[in-house]
Amino acid sequence: MRKKVTVIGAGNVGATAAMRVAEKELADVVLLDVLEGVPAGKALDIAEAAPIEKHDCKVLGCTNRYEEAKDSDVIIITAGIPRKPGMSRDDLLATNMGIMKSVVKEAAAAAPGSILIIVSNPLDAMCHVALETSGFPKQRVIGMAGVLDSARFRAFIAAELDVSVENVHAFVLGGHGDTMVPISRYSTVAGIPVTELISPDRLAAIEKRTREGGAEIVGLLKTGSAYYAPASGAVEMTEAILKDKKKILPCAAYLQGEYGIKDLFVGVPVKLGAHGVEEIIEIKLNEEEQKALQSSALAVRNLVDDMKRLSK
Ligand code: LAC
Repeated sequence: MRKKVTVIGAGNVGATAAMRVAEKELADVVLLDVLEGVPAGKALDIAEAAPIEKHDCKVLGCTNRYEEAKDSDVIIITAGIPRKPGMSRDDLLATNMGIMKSVVKEAAAAAPGSILIIVSNPLDAMCHVALETSGFPKQRVIGMAGVLDSARFRAFIAAELDVSVENVHAFVLGGHGDTMVPISRYSTVAGIPVTELISPDRLAAIEKRTREGGAEIVGLLKTGSAYYAPASGAVEMTEAILKDKKKILPCAAYLQGEYGIKDLFVGVPVKLGAHGVEEIIEIKLNEEEQKALQSSALAVRNLVDDMKRLSK
C-alpha cells in the first residue's frame, strides 16, 4: 500500500512540499487548509502535472476536512502566518501559537499514529505547542529547521569553493533564529574540513549569511518568507521517515538532558527513521560551540516562557 502524507497549510511552503512529495513519488498527499478552494485548486493543479512529471501519487486538496488525514504516516504542518520585512520569526508567536493548537488537535485526533513535522515559525516554540497539544511521544514530533539552515550553509560553501553542493556536508545546530549555531568544524567538502579550505574571515561571513538566510529572502520577497528550500527540508525529513532510512539530519528534537539541555526543543543531529527520532546524536562540542548552543537554547526557553504567559 502506498504511504500517505498530509500537509496542513496550502500556502507556498505547504503547496511546494505537497508537490515535492508527489513528484518524488513518496506518498499520496492530502493538502488541507482553512481556506475554501485554494487547497483543492492547488492539489488539482499538482495532480494535472502528474502525467508529465511521471508519478501516480494521488493529490487531494480540501478545506477543514480533517477526516481525510486519517491513517497518514506523516503530517507536515506549515499552517500560520509568515513574516514580513522587519519582523523576526518571534513576532509570529501569539498568532501562530493559536493556529498551531487548533490544527494539531484535529490532526492528532484524525491520525493518532502519525509523525508530525513542524515547519511553522517560530519553529522551536511551535514544536512545544505541537508536542503538548498532540500528546504524542517526543519521537513523533519533529521540527524542520536544521535541514534548511544547513542547506543554506552548504549552498554558500559550495558557491564559495565552486564545487558541487553534493560534496558539501554541514551542520547548523540550535534554535531556528538569530542565535542558530553553524558548526564549521564539523562541516566538510568531500571529507575535507571546510576550516582547511576557507579562510576564517570568509567562513565567518558565510556563517553570518547562513544565520540571516531567512531574513535575506524576506527582504527580497517583501510579501512573505522563503518556501522552496523550507519545503525541500520538510520533504527530506519525510522521505527519511517513510523509507526508514536512519538518516542523520539536524532537526528540532525534544531534549531531555542531551547537550545539558532539558525539556526543550532545540536543533541537534538526530537519526530519522520509521519511528521518527530514533536517536539523538551527541557530538562533542568545544567550549565556544557549547556556549553558543546554550545561548541559542536560552532564546528558545524565553519564547516558551512567553507562550506560558500568553496562555494565562
Ligand atoms: C526561513 C523561514 C521560513 O528561515 O524560517 O526562511
